[in-house]
Amino acid sequence: MYDFAPSTDQPKPALYRDLAEAALAITHDEPDAVANMANCAALLAQFLPDLNWAGFYRMVDGGLVLGPFAGKPACIRIALGQGVCGAAAATGETQLVPDVHAFPGHIACDAASRSELVVPVMRDGAVIAVIDLDSPLVARFDAEDAAGLEALAAALAGRI
Ligand code: SME
Repeated sequence: MYDFAPSTDQPKPALYRDLAEAALAITHDEPDAVANMANCAALLAQFLPDLNWAGFYRMVDGGLVLGPFAGKPACIRIALGQGVCGAAAATGETQLVPDVHAFPGHIACDAASRSELVVPVMRDGAVIAVIDLDSPLVARFDAEDAAGLEALAAALAGRI
């Protein structure tokens, strides 16, 4: 059994440090990418409050394909440049969207989603996946969330 018992009321930088530490511990010495993404999706949902979806899309044959996640069933394939995830994958840049209703082309997988943060996972200069967080709250994510999730993506790049 793994019991990481996050204290979700601490400042965001500390929370993301604890999350990254747990993610590195649970993926240590495990070469299976699906298992590692599955456990990390569970950790994201466990550590970060006010989310309705947390998980991975993987770059497969030039497009994004749904990976392990926590939340409602989601759209399976996303073309590069399509939606928030496709924008992150196409540009290699974090997408912080305070109000998804104001983002042209946003893909509504869960009607409850109101804000979204998507961070690319880069390996050898290429996007290999994105980490997607959705929240039912408007403006749930800020620069501290983006920095924390980017650090996690960098830490996981060799393990997914
Ligand atoms: N909203 C995303 C699609 C993925 S779901 O949120 C899980 C987007 O616009 O890319």
